[in-house]
Order: sequence, then C-alpha cells, then structure tokens
Amino acid sequence: LPSASSQIIWRGVNEDLSKKFLPGSIITWWTFSSCTATMAVLENNIYLNTTGVRTILAIETINARVIRAESHSPNEDEILLLPGTQMVVESHSSPAPNLHIIHLKQIIPNETLLQSPLKDAYLYPKNIARDRLASVYRAYPGLTYADLYTLAGVVAIENMGGPTIKWRSGRVDYSDGSKSPPDGRLPDASKGAQHIRDVFYRMGFNDSELVALIGAHSMGRCHIERSGYDGDWTPRTTSVSNDFFRLVSQEQWKERNWKGSRQFEDVRTR
Ligand code: HEM
Repeated sequence: LPSASSQIIWRGVNEDLSKKFLPGSIITWWTFSSCTATMAVLENNIYLNTTGVRTILAIETINARVIRAESHSPNEDEILLLPGTQMVVESHSSPAPNLHIIHLKQIIPNETLLQSPLKDAYLYPKNIARDRLASVYRAYPGLTYADLYTLAGVVAIENMGGPTIKWRSGRVDYSDGSKSPPDGRLPDASKGAQHIRDVFYRMGFNDSELVALIGAHSMGRCHIERSGYDGDWTPRTTSVSNDFFRLVSQEQWKERNWKGSRQFEDVRTR
C-alpha cells in the first residue's frame, strides 16, 4: 500500500472522547483504523453525522496508507492507520456543545510495535535526521519545525568545523504541505551541466555560485538505496573543507567498472 505523505487526516466517533485523550498523553491504536483525508466525509450520516455527541480526531500522520484505489467508495478518500500507530495528544477544543475536537500527532514509537512484514520494507519513512530531531521537538513545546531544522543545520555546520552562522528564532510552520514546492526538483546527477544550470539558474545562482555550492559534497556520501550512487566524495565525510574541489582537481579519475549508475572513481585509492 502506498504511504500517504505527512498530512492531517480525520476520524469521527459518536461519543465524547475528551476525557480519555488527555493532552500530553500517548495513545497507541492496535487495530487498523480507517480515517479520511477529507473532513467533509465525516458529515455523512453513516459516519459521524452533524448532530449528537461527536468527537472529531484530527491526526497528523507520518506513515498512514492510502487505500482510495482499493476502497468500495473512492470518493471517501480513505486512509488507513496501521496497527501499532502511536500518537501524542496535542490539544482539545469544544467549539459547540456535544462537539469535541482532538488534535493528535503521530510519533515513531521507541520500541518496535509492528514488525515489518517484508524484508527491506520501511514501516516509517526513512528520514533519519528528522527522526533524530523528533525528541528535541517534543521536549520544547512551541518550537516550530522550521526553527528546529534551520538550527540543526547551523549547529551541524559549526560542529563539522564550518563557520558559526547567525541564527534567529521565529519561523512559523504551515499546517500542511499544500504550499510546499513539489518533490523531485533536486538536481539529477546523471543529467549533466545544462541540467544543473537549469536547476540553479531558476533560483538566481550564477555559474560560480553553483560551483561553490557543490563543494558541500565534502560532507556526507552517496547511498545506493537512495540515489543509486555509492561511496564518499572525500575521506573526511563529517568535516566542512575544500576537499571536494581539491580532490576533483588533483586526483586522476576513471569510470567505475560496475553494474550500478555511471560514476567515477579516483585511480589512486580505488
Ligand atoms: C550540482 C547539483 C547537485 C547534484 C547533482 C547533487 C547530487 C547528490 C547526490 C547524487 C547525492 C547522494 C545522495 C545519496 O545517495 O544519499 C548527494 C548528497 C548530498 N548532497 Fe548533493 N547534489 C547537488 C547539489 C548539492 C548542494 C547545492 C548541496 C548543499 C549546498 C548538496 C549537499 C549534499 C550533501 C550534504 C549530501 C550528502 C547527504 C548524505 O550524506 O546523506 N548537494 N548530492
């Protein structure tokens, strides 16, 4: 089943759940739970209806599954939460007598609650940096993701020997990804110089600036399972340095002989 992108989904119950879902508590659901991506679906009288005691759960998800294509009623935009889904109760409100709204946010449990049925299948999106920062996010209520991620970036650069970058708080998060640029707009390493120019010119960079930016590859590495490329660019993968440019210009490079994506390796250390 395809994973839904992180988003808010909805579930309705014809009872008052506000006493059971106390803000700050952690809730685990052990069954498959059917939800919808479209809030208006709940108003249908076979679900929540528009009268009587009702609780609407607004759930921020990270690994829900889209089953619209498998559903009897594709218009219901059905989204399934897997067994072992863990959520923290963020807040409550009661905008009308008998109507309760509870905001839940899915978290990745500390221990494995559901074993992945297939080898190599990811139960949660592989978002290592984001997952590592989840506990910091939880420890500081009111912190926005935009502040957390930019702060993590400047702290990482400084820790890797780079400059100290001035940072200020105050960024605001959007409530969903509808205003984000579409995925898939990062440069594709197999496409050559004109493609790289197309991507960076779009953002107002000139040739020297885009070459300078590519020096960021002194840090990190390629992962076959992510990009199809393999290996480190430099021997010091957690240091900000000019190693990338130094090695590109000083070493001799030859095409790697392997079945993977076309890439080059240096003749001296391969
Ligand atoms: C010229 C355009 C660029 C191309 C074609 C490109 C391509 C790639 C590729 C193929 C990877 C390996 C991904 C993987 O397998 O995990 C990668 C990783 C990386 N890129 Fe770029 N990139 C470009 C520009 C940039 C820029 C502008 C920056 C930052 C200023 C950057 C920073 C990084 C870093 C830090 C990694 C390592 C990630 C890790 O270790 O997980 N790249 N890039």
